[in-house]
Amino acid sequence: MDKFIIEGEKRLEGEVEIKGAKNSTLPILAATLLTEDEFIIENIPRVKDIFTMKRVLETLGVSISIEDDTAYIDTRGTVGYEAPYELVKQMRASYYVLGPLLSRLGRARVSLPGGCAIGSRPIDLHIKGLKALGADISIVHGYIEAYGKSLDGSNIPLEGQNGPSVGATINTMMASVRANGVTVIEGAAMEPEVVDVANFLKECGANIQGAGSSKIKIRGIGKLSGCKYRVIPDRIESGTFAIAVAITKGDVIIRRAESGHIKTVLDKLKEIGADISLGDDWIGVKMVRDIMPTNIETAPHPGFPTDMQAQFTSLLSLANGVSIVKDKIFEERFMHVPELVRMGADLKREGDYVIIKGVPYLSGAEVMASDLRASAALLIAGLAAEGTTKISRIYHIDRGYEKIEDRLAVLGASIWRLKE
Ligand code: EPZ
Repeated sequence: MDKFIIEGEKRLEGEVEIKGAKNSTLPILAATLLTEDEFIIENIPRVKDIFTMKRVLETLGVSISIEDDTAYIDTRGTVGYEAPYELVKQMRASYYVLGPLLSRLGRARVSLPGGCAIGSRPIDLHIKGLKALGADISIVHGYIEAYGKSLDGSNIPLEGQNGPSVGATINTMMASVRANGVTVIEGAAMEPEVVDVANFLKECGANIQGAGSSKIKIRGIGKLSGCKYRVIPDRIESGTFAIAVAITKGDVIIRRAESGHIKTVLDKLKEIGADISLGDDWIGVKMVRDIMPTNIETAPHPGFPTDMQAQFTSLLSLANGVSIVKDKIFEERFMHVPELVRMGADLKREGDYVIIKGVPYLSGAEVMASDLRASAALLIAGLAAEGTTKISRIYHIDRGYEKIEDRLAVLGASIWRLKE
């Protein structure tokens, strides 16, 4: 298992380009199953999760090749209906084939994803959405088995106890684009990735209105066609680089980014003392002052994203005062906390929040990555810490950040990958 070695306290300077959004590429790749045609999907990130989705599609019989940042996909011909445990256990988002397969074949069998490092992560809302379209769903031998020869549009109140679900909104939207009649998803997730998937489906001919609001209306059409589509920039990657710049008191232009997608994150960065400048497709981040404390509570979009909580916790560990970070979306998303404490951070977790007493410096240590964003938080802490930080289990980071060490090194970080 590879490790990152970081010699900290190097200021980040220069320019970095943001890759395409992992979390919209995954459902867009799955959505190509909706019809028999050819697709070209541009601006995809070359990260492990995307290659896992490639394997899922190949297992189903789809022809897909990825060259640089472009996927060439051919979904003509026969496709299978089963996504096996071996692949789904590697990546939960494999469940995105459920809606498209059900729509295309009237049948799907997808392994239940099981547990996850950031919480229990049920999929009841995905099932609720598909059942509302008339699918017959049962859980058998660890698999979700869905049948529905003809899906019918319906009014679907989809919001769950913890708010709207990104995945359930997308799965239901994908399943309904070819259903009979009109589907209305109420309590829909409003994340930019939902809008991106809707835009892709529209490019294929789907009739969707309201994506990006809490109410999405889909008028089913008989057939979709293939298309060429360009994925949006990854907002979480943009935010992660922005925080890395702030913690190292750096000065970086983040290019090919969409600042409107991370407005709450940029507002918080301004509040803690960063200078933020914006262009059409770039974000300038410069930090000259001490880090000021602040309080954060994650919320569904357009609120502060749960996917940026861990990274911001690292930043606030070095703030001039006390901060509180609360995350009610995923109950166990605090695996980075004990690791940051090993680096000298003064953090106390109380249920769904962390009290952060800023310390003057962090010290490099051997730490262990536990999930994607927690790993990013440790990386950010390591960039600022005195001495050497060794991060093990970095396969978590490779799931969502493309060659992060090379891109940080270009900005002046002292970081390298130890292959083991
Ligand atoms: C997506 O996960 C992202 N993953 C996550 O990013 C992200 O943290 C999350 O949305 C929230 O923004 C992908 O896009 C692949 P949800 P998803 O369904 O769709 C509860 C990363 O690091 N819920 O919006 O699985 C759920 O437990 C990943 O890139 C149900 O109760 O998240 C949570 O509390 C991690 N029942 C809340 O809803 C369900 O059926 C929001 O989850 C589904 C979800």
